[in-house]
Amino acid sequence: MQVYFRTKFIIPYSCLALALVLLVLTHRVDSEPTHDKQALLSFLSSHNTNRVQWNASTSACNWVGVECNANRSSVISLRLPSVGLVGPIPANTIGKLTHLRVLSLRSNRLSGLIPSDFSNLKQLRSLYLNANLFSGEFPNNEFTGNLPIITGERLMNLNVSNNHLEGSIPGTLSSFPASTFAGNIGLCGRPLPPCGA
Ligand SMILES: *[C@@H]1O[C@H](CO)[C@@H](O)[C@H](O)[C@H]1NC(C)=O
Ligand SMILES: *[C@@H]1O[C@H](CO)[C@@H](O)[C@H](O)[C@H]1NC(C)=O
Ligand SMILES: *[C@@H]1O[C@H](CO)[C@@H](O)[C@H](O)[C@H]1NC(C)=O
Repeated sequence: MQVYFRTKFIIPYSCLALALVLLVLTHRVDSEPTHDKQALLSFLSSHNTNRVQWNASTSACNWVGVECNANRSSVISLRLPSVGLVGPIPANTIGKLTHLRVLSLRSNRLSGLIPSDFSNLKQLRSLYLNANLFSGEFPNNEFTGNLPIITGERLMNLNVSNNHLEGSIPGTLSSFPASTFAGNIGLCGRPLPPCGA
């Protein structure tokens, strides 16, 4: 008798608990960054590549190359290296991913100016745009850290002035004029004064 009563009361409560857990889990799977998703779809639709297949019926957080934050409210990383993206990046696409921390579009054939709405990407920590055909400036940035050892002998214009870069200027960049590096108080070495001087 006692067992019967216990069972009778325990089952409904555990069912309720299970239902709650399922509800939370399902909600978690379904929740997604709606605005970021639209921006990503706009970006992809402006580039003819069949190497990225994003299914609009599924959460953007599950798409190849896309990573969201823990509560799936924002896209924090977009990595699409070497996927055959061709042409300019339109405004109102990647520039709308305001929580982006990592952006890698390296080794595509993207070209033209970096859209000015990239200045919204204030959380950006890692940016890989190398091996494309971009020109112009990167808007409104405050780059920090060291200059990478760039070996591209085809690099003709470089201007990293007025950022917060530091460390010695790599030898491969020392033929650029001092004004290329001006306004970075932490930078040293040719063409700027020697380090430790
Ligand atoms: C997209 O996802 C939906 C829902 O999971 C699925 O039914 C559909 O087959 C998928 N479409 C493609 C092209 O994979
Ligand atoms: C999701 O997490 C971020 C921090 O990663 C927080 O700023 C934001 O308010 C959270 N959003 C929701 C809907 O909980
Ligand atoms: C770099 O840009 C600064 C303005 O931020 C300018 O004064 C300087 O002449 C430029 N130098 C080169 C090499 O483009």
